[in-house]
Amino acid sequence: MSSADDPLSRHTDYGQIPLEEGSLSSDPIEQFRVWLDEADSEGIYEPNAMVIATVEADQTPRVRTVLLRGVSEGGFAFYTDYTSQKGRALIANPAVAAVFPWYTLHRQVKIRGTAHKVSEAESDAYFGTRPRDSRLSAWASDQSQPIDSRAGLEQKVSEAEKRFEGVDDVPRPERWGGFVIVPDSIEFWAGRRSRLHDRIRFNRDGDGWSVERLQP
Ligand SMILES: Cc1cc2nc3c(=O)[nH]c(=O)nc-3n(C[C@H](O)[C@H](O)[C@H](O)COP(=O)(O)O)c2cc1C
Repeated sequence: MSSADDPLSRHTDYGQIPLEEGSLSSDPIEQFRVWLDEADSEGIYEPNAMVIATVEADQTPRVRTVLLRGVSEGGFAFYTDYTSQKGRALIANPAVAAVFPWYTLHRQVKIRGTAHKVSEAESDAYFGTRPRDSRLSAWASDQSQPIDSRAGLEQKVSEAEKRFEGVDDVPRPERWGGFVIVPDSIEFWAGRRSRLHDRIRFNRDGDGWSVERLQP
């Protein structure tokens, strides 16, 4: 295999679009929306997918992908099982980091903050938008718990189907709901030539944000 064929040996140069402090919105949430829309219009698959990192009780980190389901001045919302590994970790220690990895655009957005449960009304409203089968899966799956087999999981789905037979509006399980990541910092990263990337970080500063440029 020549080095060009080996993904571990490639040295791809990234984009030439500079990231200037003055060309970004002074509101990082607003700027995030602009980049999310561009990721979407540029055809990024699941542009709202973000990898989130949590800290376990023994201080070890864990990561996984979730889908962003809402963004506002209040923060970045996603939905999950509160009794899952991430759910338990965040309830015990709300420290969280997230990255939106938009590689083909030579962009990423990195967020640091704290995660808080959204209101039950918000979780109900979002759960209500999910297809019936996804709602039943939420009832059937005790997320992150081991199970003997796929057949065992499907059995739990059958039990949920039986339980909610004839019920049109399958309700939200109490253990399932949203978190909102309230950001302390939001970094916009743009790949540049020769690894001289642009990094602009917004840090929460009172009611507003301060801005700094970081070395790549
Ligand atoms: C593209 C993608 C989107 C995902 N979205 C979610 C999500 O929104 N919520 C969720 O709980 N899990 C989602 N998952 C599954 C998680 O990555 C993870 O496997 C699961 O939540 C269990 O994580 P935990 O054991 O660390 O709690 C998604 C996975 C992928 C690959």
